[in-house]
Amino acid sequence: MRSDANIAGPMADPVPGPRPADSEPVPAPAGAAGSVSRETAPHPGAGRETPPQMPRPEQTRVMVVANQKGGVGKTTTTVNLAASLALHGNRVLVVDLDPQGNASTALGIDHHAEVPSIYDVLVDQRKLSEVVQPVRDVEGLFCAPATIDLAGAEIELVSLVARESRLDRAIKAYEQPLDYILIDCPPSLGLLTVNALVAGAEVLIPIQCEYYALEGLGQLLRNVELVRGHLNPKLHVSTILLTMYDGRTRLASQVADEVRSHFGQEVLRTSIPRSVRISEAPSYGQTVLTYDPGSSGALSYMEAAREIALRGVGVQYDGDRAHMVGRQQQHDQHSMSEGLQ
Ligand SMILES: Nc1ncnc2c1ncn2[C@@H]1O[C@H](COP(=O)(O)OP(=O)(O)O)[C@@H](O)[C@H]1O
Ligand SMILES: [Mg+2]
Repeated sequence: MRSDANIAGPMADPVPGPRPADSEPVPAPAGAAGSVSRETAPHPGAGRETPPQMPRPEQTRVMVVANQKGGVGKTTTTVNLAASLALHGNRVLVVDLDPQGNASTALGIDHHAEVPSIYDVLVDQRKLSEVVQPVRDVEGLFCAPATIDLAGAEIELVSLVARESRLDRAIKAYEQPLDYILIDCPPSLGLLTVNALVAGAEVLIPIQCEYYALEGLGQLLRNVELVRGHLNPKLHVSTILLTMYDGRTRLASQVADEVRSHFGQEVLRTSIPRSVRISEAPSYGQTVLTYDPGSSGALSYMEAAREIALRGVGVQYDGDRAHMVGRQQQHDQHSMSEGLQ
């Protein structure tokens, strides 16, 4: 089910900003040794002073946040992971590839129809540097916004040369140094998502802990295989993140178990709880990391980002400790899609 709360734009409340911690209980991350609990939570805002422990990758990591289902947490995951990484010393670009522009909204980036946007990059081959905007409040975080024009790009791209690799070319020509590029995909497997899959090396799939969570994933994985086989041999599913996890329900833990048994070590140990603060933040043009840094949602996105950063330098994270395990093996995508429809 999709909520339109984050399409509405900034709300009237004149004093957004830090709020008391979430009122919901903080569920333990499914199967995780290191749960994020309010008892152990640092003081709101303290995240910025704690040692970074989010190493910067040697090369830019381009991560495609994809799942053709709507409302599973792609945009929320993109902007909050991006903010977490940027707040810990990384330079991060969010590419908004969804015509709804939810990621742009959540980052407080103006994206009305006249704003230079990712549409101009894809269709008119404008330079990425001409559309990228800095995100206010978070140093090192940037956004290439999407405007409503992008809705037409899916059709317009069909007749253009190199239609699948336009984003890849634009990213390769981008001169600013970056540690991460996170691409927020639309809820479809059309040419926009294909452009993202050609441009990226890693696919990050957010999975909402609900009934039918795995339905349709087989199709996404087959598309990943196709793009890998024909257009981008580096592409692999590196990361699965369980979102909207409600530890009080048996369904959520069953879904989490099922996802873990299908995907194994790609699944982050940290899962993201349902959190009112997470869903409120976009309407203030903020990520939950700045809106309410001490909330369970902010802390869990920070933990998830830490895991991703550590994995990127070959460190396996198990909550309390991090140990070297060598670079993560790329799993055979065929074996992953077995059993999924
Ligand atoms: N952990 C969470 N807790 C509560 N609400 C969430 C959470 N993650 C996402 N949401 C809300 O669910 C809706 C769908 O999330 P969104 O990130 O926009 O999904 P997608 O990009 O996959 O369509 C949004 O209204 C968002 O605010
Ligand atoms: Mg979205």
